[in-house]
Amino acid sequence: MQAIVTGGAQGIGFQIAESLIKDGYEVVLFDKNYESLKEASTKLNCKSFTVDVANESEVQEALTEIKSLDILINNAGIWKPEPLATLDLSTQKNVLETNILGTLNCTKHVLPKIKKSNSSSIINITSAASRTNSPGLGLYAASKAAIEALTRQWSLEIAPIRVNAVGPGMVITEGTALNYKGNALAARSNAVPLKRVGDPSDVAQIVSFLVSPKSNYVTGQILFVDGGITAGSPGHN
Ligand SMILES: NC(=O)c1ccc[n+]([C@@H]2O[C@H](COP(=O)([O-])OP(=O)(O)OC[C@H]3O[C@@H](n4cnc5c(N)ncnc54)[C@H](O)[C@@H]3O)[C@@H](O)[C@H]2O)c1
Repeated sequence: MQAIVTGGAQGIGFQIAESLIKDGYEVVLFDKNYESLKEASTKLNCKSFTVDVANESEVQEALTEIKSLDILINNAGIWKPEPLATLDLSTQKNVLETNILGTLNCTKHVLPKIKKSNSSSIINITSAASRTNSPGLGLYAASKAAIEALTRQWSLEIAPIRVNAVGPGMVITEGTALNYKGNALAARSNAVPLKRVGDPSDVAQIVSFLVSPKSNYVTGQILFVDGGITAGSPGHN
């Protein structure tokens, strides 16, 4: 069984790749960062391709090396914290192209390779931000809300292949580590109903479940892995 994980060089994508390998998948990593990708593929002893998911020809070229596929994890994503009023056009395009077009692009081009069966699965990584709209994350939130709409649409258009989305809350990764320096870790943990921030493994184990036969009647769904953040405020202490 073969899986592709985009943005697999670090963070949540790396952890998903590691856990899929433990589940018995042969994993291929796609990432635009050559250096960290090389390191990750050595650590995981798996194939990798330097690919910008928003670049259609790069995705198509990498896919010529892949004969058949069971799983695609659309995890590559970026955020550029800044109020909407000052966000410049090239940053706007970068966020939308990576998050929305990257997800569309990879999904569209794996279709000729992915087995037409409900044991095949596509998982899109969304975010609790799509429901919580924190300061500076407006365009990111909109891009993730679009990914959720696309998840439902793909699930209708390409059944029996199952398409679901997983929405992490606050997860410490290479990309977010600065947000948890010093007192910030305790403050952020306290804002979560379950009183801790997430670990990439919290997300990876839900991805493992959603690609497994245990969830073979689940498609078109968004599952938040966020300690309860999207359920509302835990109240005052
Ligand atoms: N960490 C969190 O708290 C959190 C919360 C909610 C959602 N998410 C989502 O989870 C996913 C992973 O987040 P993370 O924290 O692990 O991020 P990260 O920044 O640590 O890692 C992201 C990886 O994606 C790669 N990448 C970025 N743009 C790419 C592109 N155009 N093509 C190919 N690869 C690309 C980067 O090189 C990097 O290796 C993202 O989609 C993010 O929006 C993260």
